[in-house]
Amino acid sequence: MVSFYAGALPKLSLTTRRIFLGQSTLAVAGAVLPAWAPAHPHAAAGFAAAGAPAGKAVANVNPDTLARFVDPLPLPLLARPQGSRPVPGAAHARAPHYRVSAGRIEAKLHRDLPPTTLWSYGGVVPGVMFDVRSGEGLSVEWVNELPQKHFLPIDHTLHGAEPGVPEGRTVVHLHGAKVPPQSDGYPEDWYPPGQSRTYYYPNEQDAALLWYHDHAMGINRLNIYAGLAGLYVIRDAKEAALRLPGGRYEIPLMICDRDLRLDGQLSYPVSADPARPWVPEVFGELHLVNGRIFPYLEVEPRRYRLRLLNAANGRFYRLSLPDGIEMHQIGTDQGLLPAPVPVRYLLLAPGERADLIIDFASHRGARIVLASDAFQLMEFRVGRAAVDDPSELPSTLRPIERLAESSAVQTRRLTLDESQNLVAESTGMLLNKTPWHAPVTEKPVLDTTEIWDLVNLTDDVHPIHLHLVRFQVLDRRRFDAFDFLTAGKLRYLGPAMAPEPNELGWKDTVRVNSHTVTRIIVPFAGYTGRYVWHCHILEHEDNEMMRPYEVLPAGAVPRAGG
Ligand code: C2O
Ligand code: CU
Ligand code: CU
Repeated sequence: MVSFYAGALPKLSLTTRRIFLGQSTLAVAGAVLPAWAPAHPHAAAGFAAAGAPAGKAVANVNPDTLARFVDPLPLPLLARPQGSRPVPGAAHARAPHYRVSAGRIEAKLHRDLPPTTLWSYGGVVPGVMFDVRSGEGLSVEWVNELPQKHFLPIDHTLHGAEPGVPEGRTVVHLHGAKVPPQSDGYPEDWYPPGQSRTYYYPNEQDAALLWYHDHAMGINRLNIYAGLAGLYVIRDAKEAALRLPGGRYEIPLMICDRDLRLDGQLSYPVSADPARPWVPEVFGELHLVNGRIFPYLEVEPRRYRLRLLNAANGRFYRLSLPDGIEMHQIGTDQGLLPAPVPVRYLLLAPGERADLIIDFASHRGARIVLASDAFQLMEFRVGRAAVDDPSELPSTLRPIERLAESSAVQTRRLTLDESQNLVAESTGMLLNKTPWHAPVTEKPVLDTTEIWDLVNLTDDVHPIHLHLVRFQVLDRRRFDAFDFLTAGKLRYLGPAMAPEPNELGWKDTVRVNSHTVTRIIVPFAGYTGRYVWHCHILEHEDNEMMRPYEVLPAGAVPRAGG
């Protein structure tokens, strides 16, 4: 057996390793077509013409061949309740009830592409959007109407994806929500096609943009890539009092990347080993905003509120507008920041959200492209006629008290690890060197606060997400990973760095930079029971970079190691 760090010590640099991986995949391109991919007659020509980076084994649509900004930006369809149901545990109360099916659809992702087969919640991608008020609970019957067979390449060597486990399994998680464990979508609580589960969401939390997505053990990355994700907005009175742009001036934007084959069907990359198709990261060349490639949106010359979600499997977006157009960030994962933060570039890791105000008032008639580094994502077309704008960009948004480190009852040191084979290819990731199925080791007590030191020993940035809770980022500090790996010593290479100004709100997903200790302070509030924490790069999450944790009842004395 290759020991965990065996490949890591004489390590190649990140770039070298990625190039190496790319070339090794390319070299055997003919052998790595997944079973479902028909050999395309123009594969070779398309591949070369596309100028695709090394590692793309299948002929994919080249973004440069697509007309830009020919499709209007779709806005998510709203979910509608169907009657009401009794509230669990409350004698006479009733709450709105929804029924949402996950099933197979065909959707046009671009005017000039044939329809793409997707899996969707409620018949649309993004899935139907919930727009609800804080404190008003609701129930959803999540129905599994997926096909029995998967259409993306399952890796049956991954934990939970063994042969014989139903391929059409799913379970829904509402990311960012404070919900009882039985409604949280524990990865092993999946159910097969033909079944459903009814979840209760209390919505007892501050206004924020949440999102729901599949969380089925071992195939989560494939199910989300197939389209199983949707938005969930919680509103409250404090936010409503701020006169932010609302109604048609508030635009949700779910951003993700995909590769499409020339026939318009999803292309998910595979490794060179047909028995173990898992790849450590997926970066699509096409970018979907609300399910459309290169969409445009006609806007009035006034303020807009853009509510962004990075729903990509592995890509970090670095969003920007042309020079001279200001973005103000007003909110993050768990709602409003204390005050607006002007941002030149907005870095958004998978799972993270951002709330932005953009004022188009002085750009009448302009066409403004939202980009991520060199990629264009969408275009805003600003109207010419002046309009009234009663909305405001307040100078303060809400008070957020910084949690004192002294309020923490415990500090946990948790490592982020990558295992590699002898040629420095990633074979999987771990949290605290512990696989998913090992006994629960993190057992915070309800209504206590802890500090988690996330020690990233890998070359990658990992967006770490905890279910149930919201937290604050304390700081980040570089350390010598070699010393840590060889001698177990944590030697810092510089002073602790404060979080970015736009991280000074409540978060549920935090970027843990390479060879950096990122500290978060977490009040465990809400419910007792079993939850999970994981990396939100879905390929990592599916290959063991996910662990259960358990909130113990208040007053419980955690056992050793808990
Ligand atoms: Cu969006 Cu378990 O996460
Ligand atoms: Cu979550
Ligand atoms: Cu990761």
